[in-house]
Amino acid sequence: MEYGHFDPERREYLITRPDTPAPWANYLGSPAYGAIISNNAGGYSFVKSGAAGRLIRYRFNEQDRPGRYVYLRDDETRDYWSASWQPVGKPLDRYKSVCRHGTGYTVLEAEYADVRSEALYYVPHGKDYEVWKIKVTNKGAKARKLSAFGFAEFTCESFYEQDQVNLQYTQFITRTYFKDSFVLQTINENCLNAVNESRVETRFFGLAGASVASFCGDRAAFLGKYRDYGDPVSVERGSLDGTLNYNLNPCGALHTSMVLQPGESVEFAFLLGQKREAQARELVALYNDAGLPEKEIDELKAYWHGKLANLKVKTPDANFDNMINTWNAYQCFITFNWSRAASLTYSGLRNGYGYRDTVQDIQGIIHLDPEMALDKIKFMISAQVHHGGALPLVKYTHNPGHEDKPEDESYGASTGHPSYRADDALWLFPTVWKYIAETGNTALLDEVIPYADKGEDTLFVHMKKAIDFSLNNLGIHGLPAGLHADWNDCLRLGAKGVSVFVALQLYYAFEIMIRFAQFRKDAATEKEMAGLKERFGKIIEERCWNSDRFVRGITEDDQVVGKPGDPEASVWLNPQSWAVVSGFADEKRGKAVMDLVYRELNTKYGARLMAPSYQKHAFEGALALLFNPSTKENGGIFLQSQGWLILAEAMLGRGGRAMEYYLESCPAAQNGIADVRLMEPYVYSQFTESSESPFEGRSHVHWLTGTASTVMVGCVEGIIGLRPDMNGLLLSPSIPSAWKSLEIEKVFRGSKLNIKVSNPDGRESGCKKLTVNGAAVEGGYIPASMLKAENEIVLEM
Ligand code: GLC
Repeated sequence: MEYGHFDPERREYLITRPDTPAPWANYLGSPAYGAIISNNAGGYSFVKSGAAGRLIRYRFNEQDRPGRYVYLRDDETRDYWSASWQPVGKPLDRYKSVCRHGTGYTVLEAEYADVRSEALYYVPHGKDYEVWKIKVTNKGAKARKLSAFGFAEFTCESFYEQDQVNLQYTQFITRTYFKDSFVLQTINENCLNAVNESRVETRFFGLAGASVASFCGDRAAFLGKYRDYGDPVSVERGSLDGTLNYNLNPCGALHTSMVLQPGESVEFAFLLGQKREAQARELVALYNDAGLPEKEIDELKAYWHGKLANLKVKTPDANFDNMINTWNAYQCFITFNWSRAASLTYSGLRNGYGYRDTVQDIQGIIHLDPEMALDKIKFMISAQVHHGGALPLVKYTHNPGHEDKPEDESYGASTGHPSYRADDALWLFPTVWKYIAETGNTALLDEVIPYADKGEDTLFVHMKKAIDFSLNNLGIHGLPAGLHADWNDCLRLGAKGVSVFVALQLYYAFEIMIRFAQFRKDAATEKEMAGLKERFGKIIEERCWNSDRFVRGITEDDQVVGKPGDPEASVWLNPQSWAVVSGFADEKRGKAVMDLVYRELNTKYGARLMAPSYQKHAFEGALALLFNPSTKENGGIFLQSQGWLILAEAMLGRGGRAMEYYLESCPAAQNGIADVRLMEPYVYSQFTESSESPFEGRSHVHWLTGTASTVMVGCVEGIIGLRPDMNGLLLSPSIPSAWKSLEIEKVFRGSKLNIKVSNPDGRESGCKKLTVNGAAVEGGYIPASMLKAENEIVLEM
């Protein structure tokens, strides 16, 4: 069943059936003001933090309620409905709707009883409030008397958790007032003239471009006794009763009425934000200009489309193009902005940046906006502790040079992370490498950046320290210890047990340091790193390779995890793909382990993280056991790992396999099986249930996931093969043999590249001939020095 389709020209996804199998959401705003909105207008808004700045309520894990509701009512027949299909939910044979999710805006178009409505939701670029621009049109042949009601349910307190659970306090601190064109909510208002003025919050819900016919600031009065959002008594009645909130639950509700002749339209806007009264008044005045929203939407599109335009692909696969050109790219920016903080699954309690998650998220946008990436790279480097370990969770209030760390009890108490993870700082190597290779900004290596706790060093030394941290935390056999966890949060290998994934990451880190040291003509470091690479290479070969596979780890008591013949978890995906990605496995070994993955782990929805799932034979630190079989880390299809798999196959030149894996888990390619997948067909989720589940193919945890950036890298570096290094760009597409051609437009170091790839012989990789502006170059490699402002690049495979 299809619920919608892509519009690549407008970079929108159109939902044509509103009864989607899950709320299909979009993000509005920026880190200053975030908003999540579903195709049925469900969702919530927050100032800066989903945990500490919650403005309107959302009930998680329920029926996608409440949200940014606009109710419409025929004042003659008394029939009423909503501008989004839910919450009123009129029968779908009479209620027609299209939801258009775009880049930073969502439009809900509906037609019911000869009335057309259009609700455009957005946060103006660079602003910290939101606009619901409403247009109502009479499509019928007779004049209509109509009412529109806007409704927003304010939280009683900005801290989400407090608002939900500490009712004996939060229900008694808020009031609402009516101020001609808006409802003003105050929290702790008595503090306004006292020393602790900063406690006071004020929010507003306003109406611009129309006059208020009635108002309400109290949720109970708005809804009525034993009513729900789908049948509020005040909408049924046709007017709001003017009750204002004094204790219990506030809301902002405003009513405007209109008479529309046949064909006539009216436009007005509801506004919502955390503002003082005077600012609210100014904003309402500003939006009395009905033309403003259109200008602001153009601005938003220019902002987003400008970023996305830095890479454009045209391949024979429309799903691939839709994802790479718009949706996967946009999701990468969203994860970059909000980490794992706020979605319809993450309720905002993770109040900070997960180290590994964020350093990985950066990778997803480097090819589109390297400068934006740079700021965050420096920020994350400043969250490294002086000995090289990284803070597992970087607080939103991060203050470099002054932070506590896992050694301090206070850090564990405030973040829930009592100790270091083995992998966090090692993610800096691929990320910093990608940034420097994309931009050529090698000066970054010498930039001095503080540590989280004390002291400072150049970025180059920070990276050496990251290696030191691993070297100072070795477990048995001289391999890196698994510590609190490695990439896999469910693997507790401990201080002496060892992680093969981390060993491969470290091996890759040595290689990156060698490249940087060579560039800096730092022979001593180069030699040191080469020595370490060799030393660890030998140990990996000796201890981590077993018959036909790389094992996953070794426990403190020397039990090997993931070896042939184990009754459970005998094959693991990541050590195989990372053996290739890290450069440890040669081509023959690489192909062999990837063939093993294909045989043992692949399913129609992607390759499983490991198999068989743990049920009876887990070792003590295997927390995956907590999950049902074929779910999450317990043998599910953990989608981030598909990205490394795609990259590994592409690096081996097997474009057919790379694309096969890509399509198995590509959201767009699952547009037709939305009832199986459930999640938005334009967004990656964290994992898909696999073969042991009765719901094989069902996907979970939308939007905020490392899948976005990792699959993006797998496609950009892997399938289309853009592999920059410090001096230029290797062009190495790895595509299905059936693809006869593809085109790539890319902005690289300020130059425009128009790349045309032809594949007359049906190959999967390789370069027969490459010309740059007519001049032949060798080995598929474009030296940066050859590039002009605009370049015609032709590659024959
Ligand atoms: C979740 C976490 C991520 C972790 C992964 C695997 O996606 O956010 O940090 O690497 O699970 O356990």
